[in-house]
Amino acid sequence: MDALRRQSDQKVFAALLRQRSVHYQSSRKIWYVLGYHDLVTALRSPEIFSSSPNTVFDPHVLGGESQKQRRLHTVLARECLRLSETVGDDVRRSSMHLLERLASRAKFDPISEFARPLTDSLAAKWLGINGTSAPEPPDLRQPPGQITVADDVTWAKWQSVLANAGLERNADLVPFMRFLWVAASRASRLAIAAALLIVLRQQKIREELVRNSELVPGFCDEALRYDPPEYHLTRMTTTEVNVSGCKIPAGATVQLSVAAANRDPLTFHEPEAILIGRKPNPHLAFGAGPHRCPGFTLARVEVTAALRAFLEVMPEFRIATHAGAGPTGRFPMFAPHYRRCES
Ligand code: HEM
Repeated sequence: MDALRRQSDQKVFAALLRQRSVHYQSSRKIWYVLGYHDLVTALRSPEIFSSSPNTVFDPHVLGGESQKQRRLHTVLARECLRLSETVGDDVRRSSMHLLERLASRAKFDPISEFARPLTDSLAAKWLGINGTSAPEPPDLRQPPGQITVADDVTWAKWQSVLANAGLERNADLVPFMRFLWVAASRASRLAIAAALLIVLRQQKIREELVRNSELVPGFCDEALRYDPPEYHLTRMTTTEVNVSGCKIPAGATVQLSVAAANRDPLTFHEPEAILIGRKPNPHLAFGAGPHRCPGFTLARVEVTAALRAFLEVMPEFRIATHAGAGPTGRFPMFAPHYRRCES
């Protein structure tokens, strides 16, 4: 789904939400829940809104609902928090390394040549692997990425952390590490892409951030609200349930629309505006409830450090005027992508 499509989707969802929170798409047999409070309630009720459709990606955490899932989630959150306390400099160094090489070029694609190699290499390093991303847009018939061990010490650390939390050393660990690799690299890449897209388009915001880099973390959260990496979180109902006066039957596939909820006017003042210092900003880009992203602290450090580096190395830039289809497919308006201002 490219950015243009995503933006029109956002408008469609906003219009649907103005009508009511719950909609049924009969052609695909999918229910959509759009209202912020309905989403929070559903995400916190896994006994009714089961995440079982996600077992195809990962049966242990994202698709799991047992005590084992809770244990793994806690362990992951602790490890990610620990990493987040030390990786800021690492992200900055890797960002600078990529950006300084790109800075001498007249044009480049900030997604495929900056965000993607950055997030892929950082996730691989944090997990101790060599990773190969799945093609984008994801082909659900393909495995979600291939990995081989690159750093025995880091790999062994994760192995014992996860084995202590209940994974089978032989059968479960490699598929789980592969899921973790995709979870860690893909969403961060899309978050950096969303933030870059805003600063490339909105000169005032860019200038404010260049003048005051203290504003960057708040801005990154606002970018996550405005254009979240995961638009919908998939669930299946275990029983008939009433949501905002609408009966959803048992066994229904439900898309919980983070994209719509993050612009719900009942929760967000001026939801269509990008307010750098929006407070409070209780967006759902990291989900909510027992599956809430355990990597959120790490992701925030990563996205913030990457954007700060970008603004520092290239404070003046703009999108190339003649946009066509780009190699990422996701942000065609970047192609041939981007040209630095000459001034
Ligand atoms: C900006 C970056 C990120 C965003 C927006 C994001 C978003 C999300 C969301 C929305 C979920 C919940 C999915 C659901 O409920 O169906 C999730 C789950 C998850 N995320 Fe993230 N994520 C990001 C980065 C990361 C990173 C860096 C890691 C690991 C290092 C990570 C690991 C995970 C894992 C393991 C889960 C499954 C948790 C569970 O089901 O208990 N994520 N993420």
